[in-house]
Amino acid sequence: MNVFITRVIPQAGLELLNAAGFTVKQWTEKRKLTTEELIAECKWADALLSAGQQLGTEFLEASAHLKVIALNSVGYDNVDIDTATRLKIPVGNTPGVLSGATADTAFLLMMAAARNAFYMHKTIINSEWDFFEPTANLGKELTGGTLGIFGLGKIGIEMAKRCAGAFGMKIIYHNRKRHEEAEQELGAAYVTFEELLQQSDVISVHTALTPETEGKFNAEVFKQMKSSAIFVNTARGKIHNEEDLISALKNKVIWGAGLDVTNPEPMLAGNPLLSMPNVAVLPHIGSATESTRDAMAKLAAENIIAGLKGEKLPFAVNTEIYG
Ligand code: DGY
Repeated sequence: MNVFITRVIPQAGLELLNAAGFTVKQWTEKRKLTTEELIAECKWADALLSAGQQLGTEFLEASAHLKVIALNSVGYDNVDIDTATRLKIPVGNTPGVLSGATADTAFLLMMAAARNAFYMHKTIINSEWDFFEPTANLGKELTGGTLGIFGLGKIGIEMAKRCAGAFGMKIIYHNRKRHEEAEQELGAAYVTFEELLQQSDVISVHTALTPETEGKFNAEVFKQMKSSAIFVNTARGKIHNEEDLISALKNKVIWGAGLDVTNPEPMLAGNPLLSMPNVAVLPHIGSATESTRDAMAKLAAENIIAGLKGEKLPFAVNTEIYG
């Protein structure tokens, strides 16, 4: 059986695929494949392990012979799941194993924004570190503040634990449905979206990108937040409107922002967000630790192995295909 992989993945995942006796081909060029190239590569394959590729209707319909598609990510917004389901192709993802690392990144961005850290680091590189000014470069204290989680799932819970533990932050959240177990575990309070905006000192986004969440954080929404608030997004860049965020920060509608995800990715070097003191931007490295990336590659490989054996994927997105 043949497995095509769209990026170089950690050895830990390759070892599982090799041990299962599959023939593996990895795309080693540092660029995405075009749809035509991906279709051509997948003609040979029985399974696809995909990282960073858009898998739309055209690709899926041309690759309906695939027995399984395993994503090397928890997010599956880049796959046309309805078409995969119609074609009976199981799609797997990697939930759970990246929650801690991604929450660490959200916490890092919250702190970096609160203390102007990335900007101040740049002043040293630019030889602009001159003298100590008691009134300059002042940040925000987080102790005792309120963390508002938009999308309290596995990653949001990890972020909440870090903020409660480190800064004694009060945790509030907004989800489509209440998460009563998390409420008990964290002492988190469920609030309406409007209450989340009005009460949070930091809003951290941990929801999936869906038609409902796309562009959710826009000018109207930023206006309802505290002018001292920090907006953190480690989920997907399309959940906030970047132009509106730039304008909200420029006009002091909100105080700061920490972003691991942008729209588009990569962010262009001239983006005004990169020169704002109280903004911290990272290039989508939320899950980028050695152990997390190994664990993601292993889960993706386990999904491939199950799919090629005709078994239910351990982490299936479109479970409805199993009836
Ligand atoms: C994920 O797993 O969804 C990360 O954002 C990497 O794409």
